[in-house]
Amino acid sequence: MRMLPVLDTAPQAVADTSALAAPTRTLDAFGRHIHYVRISLTDRCNLRCVYCMPEQVAFRPSAELLTDEELVIVLRAMSALGFDKFRLTGGEPTVRPGLLDIVREVASLPTAREITMTTNGLRLAQLAHPLKRAGLQRVNISIDSLDPAKFKRVTRWGNLQDVLDGIAAAEDAGLTPIKLNAVVIRGYNEDDLPALAALTLDHPWQFRFIEVMPFADVADFQQSAIVTTREMIARIEAALGPLTPENGGQLDGEARLYRLPGAQGVIGFISSISQPFCHSCSRVRLTADGKLRLCLLKDDEVDLRAPLRRGATADDLQELIRRAIWRKPWGHELANGVIPTRRIMSEIGG
Ligand code: 5AD
Ligand code: SF4
Repeated sequence: MRMLPVLDTAPQAVADTSALAAPTRTLDAFGRHIHYVRISLTDRCNLRCVYCMPEQVAFRPSAELLTDEELVIVLRAMSALGFDKFRLTGGEPTVRPGLLDIVREVASLPTAREITMTTNGLRLAQLAHPLKRAGLQRVNISIDSLDPAKFKRVTRWGNLQDVLDGIAAAEDAGLTPIKLNAVVIRGYNEDDLPALAALTLDHPWQFRFIEVMPFADVADFQQSAIVTTREMIARIEAALGPLTPENGGQLDGEARLYRLPGAQGVIGFISSISQPFCHSCSRVRLTADGKLRLCLLKDDEVDLRAPLRRGATADDLQELIRRAIWRKPWGHELANGVIPTRRIMSEIGG
C-alpha cells in the first residue's frame, strides 16, 4: 500500500488537556452511542451460501469499491469520531487483495480497541498467523453443519475440512476467543443443531446460532426457511440437556448466551427476527462501495465515496458521518413487512 498523506485530523498539540480527557462520542437521535463499524471489504465470496446469495450473482466492478487509500481515510475519520470497534466482513474479507495491509492500518488507528473479522474460514489455514501478526484480535467463523455433504449443500461450493483446518489455525494463532456462527435454515441444517452445539462441550468456543434475515431477491426463500430461536433451543435441549443463561440473560453484543451442563464454551442465539436488539445497537456498516449503511435491515445509506472522490477534507467527511449517524433509523420494521430491497447480505457485510 502507498503511504498515505497526513490528514488534517492528525493529533495536534492541545493546550487544554480536558479536551483530551473527554473522548469524542457520536450519538444518534435516540441517544445511542455509535462506536462500532462493520467494514465490508468486498462483495465477492468464494462460497455461495443459499441463505446469502443466488448461485449466479454479479459482483461490482472494482472501480466501484473504495480503494485501500480511500478506506483508510474513511476509517481515520471514524476514529476521530470515537469509533473503537472495527470488524472486517465481506462478502468474504479474505479474498480482498491487500488484506494484511488493511488490518495493519486498522490496528494503527488511535482509538482501535477491538479488531475482529467475520470469515467463512476457507483461507484461514494460510492466513491466521499473518492476520494475527498484522494486529487482528479475533475471528468469527461460519460453519453451518459438521456433515460434509450438508455443509456443501448449504454453501453450494464449500469443503468442510478447509473450515475445520481454518478454525484450528485460528486457535493456534491466538485469534481467540473463537466464535463460530451458523445460520439455521429449515430443510438444510436444523437437524444439525445438537452436533454443532455439542462443540462447546469440549472447546472454549462461543457457538452462535443465527435466525435467517430477509434481503432483496433472496427474501422469499429466507422467510420460508426461518427457524426461530425458540425452536433452536428446544432442539438443543431435547438432545443435550438444559441450557442455563449466562450473564444473567443479558445480551452479549447481539447474542443471548447459554451454557450446556458442564460445557467449556457457551452457546449464543442471535434472534434478530423474534427478539430484535435494536435498542442496544451501537453500530453502522461501511459497504465495499463506500456507503455508510445505518441499519442492516433498512435501505438508508449515505454515500461517502463520491464526496471522497470530489476531494472532501477529513473535516467534511467527519461532518457527513456525524450527520448520517444522527439519522440512523430506530430499527428494523420486518414485523410491518418492511424488507430491505437494494442489497443482499454479501453487499452489506454480515
Ligand atoms: N441472515 C442471517 N445471517 C446471514 N449471514 C449471511 N446471510 C445471512 C442472512 N440472510 C451471516 C453468515 C455469516 C455472516 C457473514 O452473516 O452466516 O455468519
Ligand atoms: Fe460467502 Fe458468507 Fe455469504 Fe456464505 S454467507 S456466501 S460465506 S458472504
